[in-house]
Amino acid sequence: MKPPQFSMLIPLVLAALFSFSLAALPHENFLHCLSLRSNDSSISRVIFTRTNSSYESVLEGRLWNLRFNTTDTPKPLVIVTPTQISHIQATIYCSRKHGLQTRTRSGGHDYEGLSFVSRVTFVVIDLVNFRSVDVDVENKVAWVQSGATLGELYYRIAEKSRTLSFPAAFVHTIGVGGHISGGGVGLLIRKYGTAGDNVVDAQFIDVKGRILDRKTMGEDLFWAIRGGGGGSFGIVLAWKLSLVPVPANVTVFSVTRTLEQNATQLLHRWQYIAPNLPDDVYPAVIVRSINSTQDGRKTVLAAFNSLFLGTIDELLPLMKQRFPELGLTRQNCTEMSFVEALILNNGIQNQPLEILLNTTARVPIASPAYKVKADFVKDPIPETGLNGLFSRLTDDAAAMTILVFVPYGGIMDRIPENATPFPHRAGNLYHIFYDVGWQEEDNIHSQRYLDWARRTYDYMTPFVSKSPRAAYINFRDLDIGSNNIGHTSYAQASIWGRKYFKNNFKKLARVKTMIDPENFFKHEQSIPPLY
Ligand SMILES: Cc1cc2nc3c(=O)[nH]c(=O)nc-3n(C[C@H](O)[C@H](O)[C@H](O)COP(=O)(O)OP(=O)(O)OC[C@H]3O[C@@H](n4cnc5c(N)ncnc54)[C@H](O)[C@@H]3O)c2cc1C
Ligand SMILES: *[C@@H]1O[C@H](CO)[C@@H](O)[C@H](O)[C@H]1NC(C)=O
Ligand SMILES: *[C@@H]1O[C@H](CO)[C@@H](O)[C@H](O)[C@H]1NC(C)=O
Ligand SMILES: *[C@@H]1O[C@H](CO)[C@@H](O)[C@H](O)[C@H]1NC(C)=O
Ligand SMILES: *[C@@H]1O[C@H](CO)[C@@H](O)[C@H](O)[C@H]1NC(C)=O
Ligand SMILES: *[C@@H]1O[C@H](CO)[C@@H](O)[C@H](O)[C@H]1NC(C)=O
Ligand SMILES: *[C@@H]1O[C@H](CO)[C@@H](O)[C@H](O)[C@H]1NC(C)=O
Ligand SMILES: *[C@@H]1O[C@H](CO)[C@@H](O)[C@H](O)[C@H]1NC(C)=O
Ligand SMILES: *[C@@H]1O[C@H](CO)[C@@H](O)[C@H](O)[C@H]1NC(C)=O
Repeated sequence: MKPPQFSMLIPLVLAALFSFSLAALPHENFLHCLSLRSNDSSISRVIFTRTNSSYESVLEGRLWNLRFNTTDTPKPLVIVTPTQISHIQATIYCSRKHGLQTRTRSGGHDYEGLSFVSRVTFVVIDLVNFRSVDVDVENKVAWVQSGATLGELYYRIAEKSRTLSFPAAFVHTIGVGGHISGGGVGLLIRKYGTAGDNVVDAQFIDVKGRILDRKTMGEDLFWAIRGGGGGSFGIVLAWKLSLVPVPANVTVFSVTRTLEQNATQLLHRWQYIAPNLPDDVYPAVIVRSINSTQDGRKTVLAAFNSLFLGTIDELLPLMKQRFPELGLTRQNCTEMSFVEALILNNGIQNQPLEILLNTTARVPIASPAYKVKADFVKDPIPETGLNGLFSRLTDDAAAMTILVFVPYGGIMDRIPENATPFPHRAGNLYHIFYDVGWQEEDNIHSQRYLDWARRTYDYMTPFVSKSPRAAYINFRDLDIGSNNIGHTSYAQASIWGRKYFKNNFKKLARVKTMIDPENFFKHEQSIPPLY
């Protein structure tokens, strides 16, 4: 009786094998691989597949730009939220083995959503659990893991010292991982340079799963990861930062002018003055449309918002001498700690410092959905040029748009262009950051705002940097060019690459060829290998 039973089993076994191979979706093989690669069961608690009831909330946990929260936005097959380095190593190994792309997410602020959106089947490594911050006041350094937010970093420093900080962006929800990978520009740019300029070591994991530090990775890779943009070389697990001194009190002021109050003339003057002020002054301007208080009609408001690393008494005579047209008075100025000034720049008032630890609330200055573009200005823009830009702001599509004029000069004139991959140094008066915001999430509505952004960018062509028209990788803009889904040549990638990195692009490609020759870490604007 046994032989017949056995023989009847064979087709069943074959059928089972056959259906297994048919049903073996890439993610099942991938998940199986993950369970084999991890030496304990902990990895099973950090894997979120699409059928998991927490998948949506994990994905949306660090999804800020609602332009990428539509039903037709491609979503990851699996999200892994590692709690140990071995989880990351296993995810890299199994993604390679099963031909899946990975995207690393730290703070999720990428302007084109590249840390959690891809047109090919992909896995997200979400570093939300890698967020320790360890501040050593005595030696003026800090180790910070990539998944920490800038707010967590600023809070942990301020908790221990009122006279130390770190030069990076003020929007405190931004992730340390992506931000420093792309350079990092903030209120201290004229005094201390970019965030990447102030990194002294890093912990990095490469495509083979090796854990490297500055010494073992070598100076070229250490150079590349401090401004060459995230997602190209491997995964930065943590950064060692050199903290910088700030006075116990700094001075902030805001002086505003509408078009009717000669905002255009004042901004025109600003272009000649701001880049030449002492390094201790950060004189930014934020321009947006408002409803006029007089007749309710739209006008444009320029807010001359500055930070000064010193007292009101020192600032007033300086501004009176250098920029009398501004008419700065003592009433316009306030003294506060540097970390309070960071919070104020986010449009947050009268809140305890703990607001910096809130990683779920959007800062008031950030719109629900947005698109960004940026330009570098090397020669002052004539008044007529500024007028044309401002008149565009009164368009309905620009109601939530802000233009930020960020002054360069200071130390930026003294750091060589090739010190880090961030090449926008001497010769730039300032950068303009066109932050086009809107309310609606759906694609149909988005289109008119995107059109406004592109038309305005076209309009600005004659007034801004040329050959190449420079751009900043952290203000990522896929309109300036992108890689193919498959192979992209170095020559083709140079179209966008030279805009972001100028002559540093070639070295970035050389480093890429060395550390990730098979181009595992890639996305629409990742650095290609040199072939
Ligand atoms: C409201 C707002 C305001 C901003 N203001 C400024 C500003 O003032 N100055 C400025 O310089 N920038 C500013 N930015 C841009 C910001 O610096 C970049 O978007 C930055 O890349 C975000 O880092 P993240 O970790 O939050 O982003 P993510 O979306 O997580 O990552 C960005 C990119 O880096 C990759 N990446 C993430 N983590 C890692 C890692 N650990 N290792 C390797 N690659 C990684 C991602 O895959 C992606 O390609 C602003 C952005 C927003 C949305
Ligand atoms: C969802 O994923 C988490 C983390 O892997 C796991 O702990 C949980 O049991 C899963 N929930 C369901 C309903 O599958
Ligand atoms: C994203 O979209 C989903 C589904 O429409 C919605 O439930 C969720 O609230 C949105 N997320 C955010 C952060 O607004
Ligand atoms: C296994 O886990 C231990 C800690 O639980 C860790 O130290 C070790 O490196 C892990 N080994 C591998 C191969 O992941
Ligand atoms: C600045 O000070 C002047 C006079 O002291 C005042 O009129 C003005 O409203 C103040 N504020 C701004 C934002 O200009
Ligand atoms: C604006 O400029 C005009 C012409 O220079 C001048 O007459 C006027 O007083 C200025 N207005 C303000 C509010 O400064
Ligand atoms: C400006 O006025 C328009 C109507 O004319 C209104 O829809 C809009 O909300 C107003 N904006 C502000 C910031 O008050
Ligand atoms: C900072 O300035 C505030 C407001 O002027 C003042 O009350 C405080 O004493 C100053 N603190 C320090 C440490 O100078
Ligand atoms: C973060 O801010 C949001 C919105 O203001 C608030 O609802 C939430 O309770 C805050 N979370 C924490 C942990 O403070």
